[in-house]
Amino acid sequence: MGTEILLDLKNVNKVFGVNHVLKNINLQIERGKFITFLGPSGCGKTTLLRSIAGFYTVDEGEIWIDGKLMNDLPPYKRGTPMVFQEYALFPHMTVFDNVAYGLDVQKRPEGEIQDRVKSALAKVKLTGLEERYPHQMSGGQQQRVAMARALVMDSPIILLDEPLSNLDAKLREEVRVELRNIQLDLGLTVIYVTHDQVEALSMSDHIVVFNKGAIDQYGTPHEIYYKPRTQYVADFIGTTNFVDAVVLQLEGDQATVKYGKKNDTVTVQTNEQLTVGENVLLSIRPESMRINGPDAGEFIMDGVVVTYSMFLGEKERYFLAGDDGKEWIVDVYDIGQTSYQGIVKIHASANKIHLIKISN
Ligand SMILES: Nc1ncnc2c1ncn2[C@@H]1O[C@H](COP(=O)(O)OP(=O)(O)OP(=O)(O)O)[C@@H](O)[C@H]1O
Ligand SMILES: [Mg+2]
Repeated sequence: MGTEILLDLKNVNKVFGVNHVLKNINLQIERGKFITFLGPSGCGKTTLLRSIAGFYTVDEGEIWIDGKLMNDLPPYKRGTPMVFQEYALFPHMTVFDNVAYGLDVQKRPEGEIQDRVKSALAKVKLTGLEERYPHQMSGGQQQRVAMARALVMDSPIILLDEPLSNLDAKLREEVRVELRNIQLDLGLTVIYVTHDQVEALSMSDHIVVFNKGAIDQYGTPHEIYYKPRTQYVADFIGTTNFVDAVVLQLEGDQATVKYGKKNDTVTVQTNEQLTVGENVLLSIRPESMRINGPDAGEFIMDGVVVTYSMFLGEKERYFLAGDDGKEWIVDVYDIGQTSYQGIVKIHASANKIHLIKISN
């Protein structure tokens, strides 16, 4: 079976007053995937989620779910329950009543409600806790009740808007794993909003990176991390080193560029359309670099260790001044084996270097 598109957004635009909040959003989401909307505060994540759920009407474009045009349907007819961060549960209702709520509103028969609620609670492994109140449960359990509320509606897509932001760091991590397991077990299609890059990288099949209301990149966590299409994406996800470079020669998908004070050259693989003489950026992750030898890479630059390095548990992070006048961050993993001071050489293999086109 090929891939099946469940949610199809075509040229979606949303304007609040003079604020153009969603700009030409085109996005196709496959059934059964965990998709994350990632971006800084105010970039339009919630607005798009609410537009999909039907709480906002879009000003332009089409929203298709399962082959049906949604634009003019109210939220309850779309099958897109949303789990909100603050109002995940009704505090004065038991777990059972919280989960039954959506079915009660639809006035389903009592027997059916009983069956569906029980089955939804079983799916999130909360059988036996039906009569508890939210305050008698852990944050993680509450989050599972919220999932059951969405599950009970048999909806094709579940929308989660920063559902873990109220939990402490340790619990967040646990619930993250649980959410992902439930999604995989049940083959759910989930859209998850977060501004936490680690959360996005660790949970998602695909990540959508938003930049001021537009999509900068859609890709797997690996693609987003190692092959960012723009400087914005590279900068937003994790830590990286940018190097100014100029294209010297092009051959197939290989670009030879020069960089640094000594005009050293390196040849890297790229799919970008380039021209000779063009200014580009190279992005090299701190963990893809080495200091001094023995296994030198194709990329090389002189550097000076600046004042101190930072011990981060599994690695030691060095801050260096490169001969290109920039600060470099290099992670070293053989902690305790070596310590670097003064003038050093910074290396990276060509296959760890990612070329970014400079947009104008
Ligand atoms: N109902 C509204 N009326 C007017 N402007 C709005 C409305 N909702 C959101 N906005 C504006 O739209 C922009 C995007 O807001 P949105 O809530 O979608 O951001 P977000 O990416 O979810 O941010 P956060 O990470 O802080 O939740 C912001 O500039 C916000 O002020
Ligand atoms: Mg938001």
